[in-house]
Amino acid sequence: MKPVKIGICGLGTVGSGTVNVLHRNSRVINARAGCDIVIGQVACRRDDVDCDISGLNVTRDIFEVATNPDIDILIELIGGIDVARELILKAIEHGKHVVTANKALIAEHGNEIFAAANEKGVTVAFEAAVAGGIPIIKAIREGLSANKIEWLAGIINGTGNFILTEMRDKGRGFSEVLEEAQELGYAEADPTFDVEGIDAAHKLVILASIAFGIPLQFDKVFTEGISRIAPQDVQYAQELGYRIKHLGIAQKGPKGIELRVHPTLIPQKRLIANVDGVMNAVLVKGDAVGPTLYYGAGAGAEPTASAVLADIVDVARTLTADPEHRVPYLGFQQEQLRSELEIVP
Ligand code: HSE
Repeated sequence: MKPVKIGICGLGTVGSGTVNVLHRNSRVINARAGCDIVIGQVACRRDDVDCDISGLNVTRDIFEVATNPDIDILIELIGGIDVARELILKAIEHGKHVVTANKALIAEHGNEIFAAANEKGVTVAFEAAVAGGIPIIKAIREGLSANKIEWLAGIINGTGNFILTEMRDKGRGFSEVLEEAQELGYAEADPTFDVEGIDAAHKLVILASIAFGIPLQFDKVFTEGISRIAPQDVQYAQELGYRIKHLGIAQKGPKGIELRVHPTLIPQKRLIANVDGVMNAVLVKGDAVGPTLYYGAGAGAEPTASAVLADIVDVARTLTADPEHRVPYLGFQQEQLRSELEIVP
């Protein structure tokens, strides 16, 4: 079987994690993909990477990867919006499949990117964009494919949850914990995305689009972060038998779909109230299955790499399958599922 060649753009926390997990677990990964996954090229500007790139074809120019005829799948892990958008559109134009962890880009420009991919007949996969290592996109799209989704709610920002947990358990100050989250590689390049709820809103929009078949509409999310929560709020909630958790909620109602992210008070005995630290959890209610719960690390190098590599395996499988028996990758477009309901402004 011909190997599938990937080109990794960006060797920060997630990029390095991806190279490390691929090197360590290549035997199982290749067995599951049904072919060898080979790193054809990596693009990064930094010299101090946390992975072994000896023997690899390394470039400083990410656009070289997008146009390299040798590369089947471009892995976009540079983050940010404008350059990442240009890179992905260029890769699509050159007939490459794309795997990305970039939630801001998918939430804000996904409609354009998926239209371009559809036209070109390539896949853009984005499991790592939501809830780190939890395979929540696959769970909703594939595991719950027989269900009408009624609502979903979750802790979908690891940094914010880590801050709230440390404030509650150790009485630590907001800024000090945020700094630690940055050192641990949990936080966004601009951490206001984490603490002002923007990152959670990006992820919620993606989840809602998968769950309800609606277009991505980031501007419709009510967004409030955790930056105004004081240590006393956390302590008072605790004394009253509650925990403060920052939730993303998407709910189908009689008037439409409501999308909101904000801090909530949850009774301590609830499972989701006990999701602490960098862990994420997402509850999804389907009409047939009832409520389901997904839990795991929401940020960090290897949990996110796990999701990136799962997408690479998925795309590689579709590339190597006998074309007659190839099951089309269940992409983002679900127009036939699209709810007649609009998002409630
Ligand atoms: N900054 C994000 C978080 C990274 O803390 O959840 C994972 O998307």
